Amino acid sequence: MKHVAILISGGGSNMLALVNSMTGDHPARPVLIASNDPAAGGLAKAKALDIPTAAVDHRPFGKDRQAFEAELLHHIEAANPDILCLAGFMRILTPGFIQRFQGRLLNIHPSLLPKYPGLHTHTRALAAGDTEAGCTVHEVTADLDAGPILGQARVPVLPGDTEDTLAARVLHEEHRLYPAVLRRFAAGDRTPVFL
Ligand code: GAR
Repeated sequence: MKHVAILISGGGSNMLALVNSMTGDHPARPVLIASNDPAAGGLAKAKALDIPTAAVDHRPFGKDRQAFEAELLHHIEAANPDILCLAGFMRILTPGFIQRFQGRLLNIHPSLLPKYPGLHTHTRALAAGDTEAGCTVHEVTADLDAGPILGQARVPVLPGDTEDTLAARVLHEEHRLYPAVLRRFAAGDRTPVFL
């Protein structure tokens, strides 16, 4: 059985989709939900499910990413996960942190990478007049949002879409894609999932 830690910054809907998938014959189980924001809504949801949580507020550390990560690592190492999933975790990680979890660090990003790494993906897709949008699960490497792709799900962009309506359509697919990728990845299979 593989042990999974999930890092979040917000509501944690992807975290919940992952947690809810890890039952029965799934090859993994959640061992820790951690956040850089003590007020992240996802922490309360994890607690309600009796999953251990940790919060390390990044703000007191200012620009010292390493000191923040050292504190976060303290909690992660105590949980000893095999796989680390970023699920709406909005802090950039240092190369040292990424290297430590190389090959077992996943992220979900709300665009069809390599299109639109970084922020404001839906606004950029709409501004470009794209007819298709989606989400990507990828392995995290030192290059932002550019690691090997482990899965993608596509949705149409519809006439009249706003950032919010498009984001909601994509998020719905995120909740299908991330669990599908994690299940495969935890079983040792890196063949990409395309939905
Ligand atoms: C998701 O749409 C995720 O793809 C995005 O943040 C949202 C988190 O929602 N992640 C990024 O933009 C990473 N750069 P959630 O907290 O409900 O899962």
